[in-house]
Amino acid sequence: MATTPTLSLGSSIPVPSIKELLAQPLAAVPLRYLRDVDGDFPTAAGDSSVQVPLLDMAKLVEPQYQEIELRKLHDACKNWGIFQLIGHGVPDESQKVMHKKSQEFFELSPEDKKRYAQKPGSLEGYGQAFVISEDQKLEWCDMIFLKAIPTHTRKLEFWPKEQPHNFREALHVYSHDMRKTAVSIIGFITMALGLDSKDFHEAFEGGNYDVRMNCYPPCPEPERVIGISSHADISGITLLTDCGDIPGLQVLKDGRWVFVEPIAHGIVVNIGIIMEVVSNGVYKAPYHRAAVNRHKDRFSIVTFCYPTKKFDIKPAKELINSGSLPLYKSFTNDEYFQSFYERTKLSDDGVPFIDTLKL
Ligand code: OGA
Ligand code: NI
Repeated sequence: MATTPTLSLGSSIPVPSIKELLAQPLAAVPLRYLRDVDGDFPTAAGDSSVQVPLLDMAKLVEPQYQEIELRKLHDACKNWGIFQLIGHGVPDESQKVMHKKSQEFFELSPEDKKRYAQKPGSLEGYGQAFVISEDQKLEWCDMIFLKAIPTHTRKLEFWPKEQPHNFREALHVYSHDMRKTAVSIIGFITMALGLDSKDFHEAFEGGNYDVRMNCYPPCPEPERVIGISSHADISGITLLTDCGDIPGLQVLKDGRWVFVEPIAHGIVVNIGIIMEVVSNGVYKAPYHRAAVNRHKDRFSIVTFCYPTKKFDIKPAKELINSGSLPLYKSFTNDEYFQSFYERTKLSDDGVPFIDTLKL
């Protein structure tokens, strides 16, 4: 998720993929994946009785509905930090093609996938993110992480080539669709905050877009493992699409884990830490995680959207001029990413990254 090659990145220790693990009969889930032995009960409280807010972009752009929809958007960002978006204008076809290509990638043979494996010093490629020690608990997830926009940041050596056929073209189209959506929604989010949305349009138009495709294979003991452990994204905003109707994403709301039920062609939008800082804490980057299930593969595609590197990360001046004190420090883009990657190299001290940014 870094944006500059000059940054010193944390690299990942290679571990077997989940699909490889499942290729042999599995008598029991290996200890390195079991969370409950450490007192952490992943799926203990997935709540389906409350639902994350739903926003319709087609209404946000309509002058007659805009005020009321902006109010809904503000409430969603303030109270949840995550919402589902429909009416976003991304062609169903572009989503469908990318979903298919991503699924086909994970279904390639282990040898074919390993041609795109992460290399030391780089987070891009196929593998698992941030495995920094041999005794670290592992996640029940195979993934491929690729920088997509601007095009000069692409490291094509990690981009699947002959197979799946047309994967590269699909990701090119998909990432541009996601950028378009991100620019529009960031415009409305900043409008809802009372900021000059033009600056943000530009910052995200020229921003960085990194795509992570996740595959969560079925697990014989789903309640004892985690697909992705609880975290807040370091992005500006994140756009997630589910490649099917299998729930897995959960968000922490008032101390309870709530499932985000997939909606066909919907896009899940969540606030990242950059926008939490910009909003001076009015909007919070929510903690979220992925649960796995016993029966079916679940696939998701996650686009991390970052403003251009010229954009400083600090509380917006309009929010400070209006009398509030800044609650977060100011960073250049490089300082922000550097401080994040420095922390990933250290063992977990229990202090959330966001707290290190606070004044
Ligand atoms: C992520 C993430 C959740 C999911 O990749 O940062 O939160 O459901 N993924 O795939
Ligand atoms: Ni995330």
